[in-house]
Amino acid sequence: MLVPDNSRRYTEFALKPVSVRLATPEDAEAIARLHVATSLAAYRPIFGDDYTGGDIDERIESWRRMLVGDLTLAWMPPEKTYLAVTADETIAGFCAVGPSRDAEPGDDGEVMMLYISPDFWRGGVGNLLFDSGTAYLRERGFSELILWVLEDNVRARSFYEKKGWRPDGAKKPSFSRPALSQVRYRVKAAATRA
Ligand SMILES: CC(C)(COP(=O)(O)OP(=O)(O)OC[C@H]1O[C@@H](n2cnc3c(N)ncnc32)[C@H](O)[C@@H]1OP(=O)(O)O)[C@@H](O)C(=O)NCCC(=O)NCCS
Repeated sequence: MLVPDNSRRYTEFALKPVSVRLATPEDAEAIARLHVATSLAAYRPIFGDDYTGGDIDERIESWRRMLVGDLTLAWMPPEKTYLAVTADETIAGFCAVGPSRDAEPGDDGEVMMLYISPDFWRGGVGNLLFDSGTAYLRERGFSELILWVLEDNVRARSFYEKKGWRPDGAKKPSFSRPALSQVRYRVKAAATRA
């Protein structure tokens, strides 16, 4: 697979070591801002220049509702959202996990979102957060884990494949851009044990 070239920023990352903690509703605004900025960096090359990353106020409100576990949302909120934070509490990335939201979820856990600030790409933060999220799903008792990723999101697909996940053949239109497809990746939960 051809991959985009994002060389590691060793110096920047070495100056900003991160630790992982659970998100709280007070983190909603900072997460929403990172979500929009990272979406722009990752998806504008795929969606085109008219892509705005979404309305920030709507994102803040939907993150606030997700983080309080609001079950009146149109979709199932994540059970856990892990944050990678620097010593000065800058959020470097987040990973949201929970039971699969598929129509026939079986006994699958889902990695619902994984977003790392572009300032931290290729610094190991994605690895750290993904391992925290999948460890939770494994301990929660799911036997298999799934995630959905845009077919054209080569950077993320390379990341997942490096972690041993593989496409399981399922495909569906992207929610916001139905002309584009999402593909489903899957792994046995036991295979995520570090
Ligand atoms: C995909 C993403 C989560 C990776 O996070 P990251 O912190 O940069 O990843 P890491 O530094 O932990 O990389 C771990 C491994 O993944 C692979 N990888 C990560 N970025 C890659 C890239 N741009 N090209 C190829 N492989 C890559 C590498 O094998 C890497 O190991 P290495 O650095 O030892 O070679 C991050 O780029 C991101 O947030 N992208 C935008 C949002 C997104 O697309 N999320 C997924 C939605 S489904």
